[in-house]
Amino acid sequence: MPSLRSSLLGIAAALTGVSAHYNFESLVVNGQATGPYEYVRRTTNSNSPIEDVQSQNMICNQGGLDANIRAATSTRTVQAGDELGFLVNVDLGHPGPLAVYLSRAPDGVSAQDYLGDGEWFKIYALTSREIRPNVGIDWASFPNSVGIRNFTFTLPPQTPPGDYLLRAEHLAIHGAGNFGGAQFYMGCAQLTIENDNYDGSIPGPTVRFPGAYTGYEPGILVNIYWPPLTSYEAPGPLTWPNRCEDHTANLVGQQSDGDCTPLGS
Ligand SMILES: *[C@@H]1O[C@H](CO)[C@@H](O)[C@H](O)[C@H]1NC(C)=O
Repeated sequence: MPSLRSSLLGIAAALTGVSAHYNFESLVVNGQATGPYEYVRRTTNSNSPIEDVQSQNMICNQGGLDANIRAATSTRTVQAGDELGFLVNVDLGHPGPLAVYLSRAPDGVSAQDYLGDGEWFKIYALTSREIRPNVGIDWASFPNSVGIRNFTFTLPPQTPPGDYLLRAEHLAIHGAGNFGGAQFYMGCAQLTIENDNYDGSIPGPTVRFPGAYTGYEPGILVNIYWPPLTSYEAPGPLTWPNRCEDHTANLVGQQSDGDCTPLGS
């Protein structure tokens, strides 16, 4: 049986569910925010999540592959090694992990024309901030149950040059105790990545969307209320190139402590 406290937390999370939806609306480049949907593809589902992991909408959210939406989105040129980030329109108002993936458009296909049907690799993961005995996980994107509104990370200096989609994904697991209850929020930015010092590195491991997740992963089908979580494994591949997780968000305008931080720091 869930404890009373856990049950109340569950009810509170359910009640705040509707108002807590969100979109990744702006790209951040070296501390400078760009306009809403200037470089990030819009969605056609207001701010609702995707819950079917087998859906094409898992790629760039609902509407993110539409020709008119792609045409209305500009492509930003950045340098490998730049500090990138996203602004969210409201708080990331649910518990769960945050991840950023990259996928290179095939030769001859621009970022604007790319439908994200190639290989994706993960370059950033932000998971637990602290694991509290008998209470559960304090999430780095939802510290003390207040969602962050922006975050930054380093575009790996080894990234091969080319046109890319940069996909931010927040996985909300407040209702993930039943199959299909996990909520995926995502947004894709269009990038041209330059790299004069490219060293031949090949990113990996890679996955495809849909396909990266089955929905049965321990990090996706998970009851966070009872028993309290004592560990958490984010779904999807390890990050490239450092195979690591961040445990404290890097906020826009703050000095970054790096993308690989120890738990509880
Ligand atoms: C970034 O997020 C923090 C905390 O969520 C907030 O205080 C700050 O105003 C945000 N900055 C921008 C540029 O949105």
